[in-house]
Amino acid sequence: MASVRLENVTVRFGAVAALNDVSLAIDDGEFVAVLGPPGAGKTTLLRTIVGLEKPESGAVFADDENITEMYPGDRDIAIMFQNLALYPDRNVYDNLAFPLKQAKTPKAEIKRRVADTAAVLHIDHLLKRKPGKLSGGERQRVALGRAMVRDPRVLLLDEPLSALDALLRLEMRVELKRLQRDVHRTLVYVTHDQIEAMSMPDRVAVLGSGVIQQVDTPENVYHRPANQFTATVVGSPPMNFVPCTFRTSDGVVRVVHPDFSVRVLSTTPAPGAIVDGASCVLGVRPEDVQIGTGNGGAPANVFVTEPLGGETVVDLHLGGQVVKALTAPALAPAPGSDVRVGFDPRRLHVFDAASGAAVVSAGGADGVFEVEGPSIG
Ligand SMILES: Nc1ncnc2c1ncn2[C@@H]1O[C@H](COP(=O)(O)OP(=O)(O)OP(=O)(O)O)[C@@H](O)[C@H]1O
Ligand SMILES: [Mg+2]
Repeated sequence: MASVRLENVTVRFGAVAALNDVSLAIDDGEFVAVLGPPGAGKTTLLRTIVGLEKPESGAVFADDENITEMYPGDRDIAIMFQNLALYPDRNVYDNLAFPLKQAKTPKAEIKRRVADTAAVLHIDHLLKRKPGKLSGGERQRVALGRAMVRDPRVLLLDEPLSALDALLRLEMRVELKRLQRDVHRTLVYVTHDQIEAMSMPDRVAVLGSGVIQQVDTPENVYHRPANQFTATVVGSPPMNFVPCTFRTSDGVVRVVHPDFSVRVLSTTPAPGAIVDGASCVLGVRPEDVQIGTGNGGAPANVFVTEPLGGETVVDLHLGGQVVKALTAPALAPAPGSDVRVGFDPRRLHVFDAASGAAVVSAGGADGVFEVEGPSIG
């Protein structure tokens, strides 16, 4: 096992900076998920760690050793590629044994390692089968086994579950988490699936357009997004963004909208970040939008409702925009009805309108924001 560190790494393909000044430190034994939309640079990040892409600038370290110039085969880092390919004419045993044979491992050792790996992945009963006779989930496990079998100090997985259907994904998610806990290996896991990124790793690195947007625990990425980009890559439906204006008078800071205002009680943000009259964006997740019928809150009209089974998405017209709320199906108002809308003050975020950077996030705490006028019980 090992720690991995990228320092100011830039990788360019022609005019495209697939990675732009990326710095990321992964601890020994840590499970880090790299989350980002297609083209964000996720695969390039893994290929750079394993040595298949050369940084134009910056450096890659494993256990504090600079490995930027080291040949990939000497790095002791294994990668499971996005499009997994098993040898179709070889059985599972030979597929697993292949990397060890290449490394000229003694035969008895190969036998032992393949048996150990197969046991961990619960594929020991499949060793004689050819890949064509395996289910998608079994094939995926064999591919994972092939990356693990040499017991590399770092394991890189590129969207390992993407080829699976929803149910198998769920199963494999739990398996992978168990596996990571049991073998406690340094693991970098690329995904564009927010549920995988939220449920499995110790930390999430959010990547957008080749730039690291945030590296934090899943909980903090969700409740304290560093910017609007990060706020939208987790949560479904995504966070609502409501354009507002900062108003400051006599030391009181407010986020003002034509239909409501939110008082900022926290003194945490640098005072310079808040300027009277500056545009800002109030962020509120659909589950934190409250719908009522009393006098409090901002006036809104129900536009459509989307029942999802366990919960219902309610699209509201608030001011000139659509705001989505998530409610229990029994509480969803009828389309066309006039309602009042409030927000959970412990769950609000305010972003700078120009840069998208978070200025204040409640992060689940009381006493950061107070929703004024519109307060619904
Ligand atoms: N070999 C290459 N030559 C030219 N451009 C490339 C090459 N590899 C990647 N790119 C470009 O670099 C950017 C990042 O690509 P990368 O494959 O790392 O993204 P990704 O986050 O893995 O995307 P996906 O989720 O679709 O797998 C993209 O704009 C891509 O088109
Ligand atoms: Mg990719």
